[in-house]
Amino acid sequence: MLRHAEQFLVDNGLRMADLDPEALLRLFDDEMTRGLDGAADALPMIPAFVTIDRPVPADTRVAVMDAGGTNLRVAMVGFDVHGKPHIEDYARYRMPGTQGELSADAFYEALAEPLAPLAAKAASIGFCFSYQAEVTPDCDARLRCWTKQVQAPAVVGTMVGSGVRARLARRGCDRPITVLNDTVATLLAGKSAGVARRYASYVGFILGTGTNTAYVERNANIRKRNDLDPHGAMAINVESGSFAKAPQSRFDKLFDATTADCGAYTFEKMIAGAYLGGLGGTILKEAAKAGLFTPATAQAVLALPPPGSKDLALFCHNPWLPPESFGVLSMTEEDRRMALELCTPIYTRAALFAAVNIAAAVIRSGAGADPLHPVAVNIDGSTYYRTAAASFASRVQGHLRDLLARRGIHYELIFVDEAPIIGAAVAGLTRRGKPYGHTPSM
Ligand code: BGC
Repeated sequence: MLRHAEQFLVDNGLRMADLDPEALLRLFDDEMTRGLDGAADALPMIPAFVTIDRPVPADTRVAVMDAGGTNLRVAMVGFDVHGKPHIEDYARYRMPGTQGELSADAFYEALAEPLAPLAAKAASIGFCFSYQAEVTPDCDARLRCWTKQVQAPAVVGTMVGSGVRARLARRGCDRPITVLNDTVATLLAGKSAGVARRYASYVGFILGTGTNTAYVERNANIRKRNDLDPHGAMAINVESGSFAKAPQSRFDKLFDATTADCGAYTFEKMIAGAYLGGLGGTILKEAAKAGLFTPATAQAVLALPPPGSKDLALFCHNPWLPPESFGVLSMTEEDRRMALELCTPIYTRAALFAAVNIAAAVIRSGAGADPLHPVAVNIDGSTYYRTAAASFASRVQGHLRDLLARRGIHYELIFVDEAPIIGAAVAGLTRRGKPYGHTPSM
């Protein structure tokens, strides 16, 4: 049975043994360099224009909004004199555009509505926006494209900070807004939490509904911009989910063809929570068509809607406790083993890809040679922390050790609760006061 499953995966281009981590790392690094040089078909490598070396003022509250892949969250945040964050007035809503298509106006209204009462109590706003957006030196951002299947097409091309600010102004609470990507916020949260440790550099990595990475790059290497202080450094939003050089299996291509943005963000579609269930569903259906299940199970699998990512991961962790979306299947023991052997490699591959992605950012930071000052990698996201299948997080950590230890790079994986919210608060509190134009230092 096992050989059948393995053979079927191999025949369709999904073989772990064919994946060479070092070769993947080189591809990642090349795409990062090409992106910094301005190649349109490379990784976006978006300069974040936030500073990380300014002290966070104590006892000043900032309004924060976090527009993520699944949730929209708002809160008031302040830091005490020891830098400890305090979160109040926390509220969570569904992310606008995830439950049917919205116009640009409806989208911005849906953001401004819950934020307004908090904005009224603050002098500034930190806006964590978890999508690919070109940030301007004054920290507004133009949405380049939606990911995670959000449906609000008219918002693409608009300035998201200004869009929210205009609606707040109509409600009588016009406030300056600092927009930043969630990975940049996660990086900043790592910095604000790690003051006692003296890290040499910071990486923010997210693996939740979507995936992405931010790290600190020397301005001299950001060759697509000629307006930066060549001696400074800046956080870069890699948009690593759009990495296009990871080898796709036939299943990845079939699944990608079912998504609204086919051809885009193929790396994210191989590792992030919004997609792993759908990818597993594709594999199971193809296996059913190829006769790998008993006829009754094959029929049921073919009629099944794609499992949710959580359900698939739960099944792969404990195939005897089938979650709801698998409940309709009355699988024989052989079918169960087959489904397990077919879907577990999705997670073993995702763990390797995630590690390559993190390692690429750590290596690019150029830091970590000194054990006194490791690189802090702040990781956020439900897929990373909650996927029990294939011992996911420890598998990522094992690959990372292989990739970085052999290079003599010291790093530490850290976790900061509510990192996107904390990081957005830091950005909202530290940006204003003194303009830093085009040459922020980090
Ligand atoms: C977005 C990124 C974001 C990541 C994690 C991706 O789909 O393009 O901007 O950082 O998800 O939320």
